[in-house]
Amino acid sequence: MGNHFVELFDQWANSYDQTVMGDDLEYRDVFLHYNDILQHVADKAFGHVLEFGPGTGNLTVKLINKGLTVIGVEPSGVMRKIALEKVAGRAEIIEGHFFHFPKDVTVQTIASSYAFHHLTDGEKREAIASYRNILPSGGKIVFADTMYETVKSYQKAIKDATQKGFHDLAHDLQSEYYTTIPVLTDIFNQNGFDVEFEQCNDFVWIMEGIKR
Ligand SMILES: C[S@@+](CC[C@H](N)C(=O)[O-])C[C@H]1O[C@@H](n2cnc3c(N)ncnc32)[C@H](O)[C@@H]1O
Repeated sequence: MGNHFVELFDQWANSYDQTVMGDDLEYRDVFLHYNDILQHVADKAFGHVLEFGPGTGNLTVKLINKGLTVIGVEPSGVMRKIALEKVAGRAEIIEGHFFHFPKDVTVQTIASSYAFHHLTDGEKREAIASYRNILPSGGKIVFADTMYETVKSYQKAIKDATQKGFHDLAHDLQSEYYTTIPVLTDIFNQNGFDVEFEQCNDFVWIMEGIKR
């Protein structure tokens, strides 16, 4: 897993909260209903939570407001700084990533929003296999992210972005590791999770995997 994302997120961190509020036209539909999506992830979480890629801490705040204990694992130092200010001592935000996190913790929920696509499909499979080891039976993984029902709908999204002149979005869709629901279903099922998907906007779905 490369760390070129870290530099990019360090640079984006200070304007990130404006982007999610719809400031950037190209990404407006990606972040449509952003607050509701994060709240929905928080509503599904329970117990002790490990959160990957908290960024500026918007999901973290919703989790702690629900009374849950949270460890946020975030590779970008600038993102961590903003998240730490936002959570004001009510959650731990530590350096790490999807594969580098405290393995000796007891957690009931692993949560994430807008981040899992940084892993290739092979890495996604590896990550879910390792999370199986730290979750109890009934424990869950709740991730919100861009994903597609089919390869055809993924290709159509790239074509639509290009036709609208949304070149940054089209480039992201082509260069990051967005995947399909059948691929994710297979990854979860093979690792002993029942999984369900719920569409939130044209890009983002919430995926909830419960360990059997
Ligand atoms: C688009 S932001 C999402 C931030 C926040 N979760 C939200 O919903 O607004 C993606 C976040 O994932 C983090 N990230 C990138 N690669 C990661 C990795 N391999 N492991 C964990 N987090 C990663 C980035 O630093 C960034 O904070």
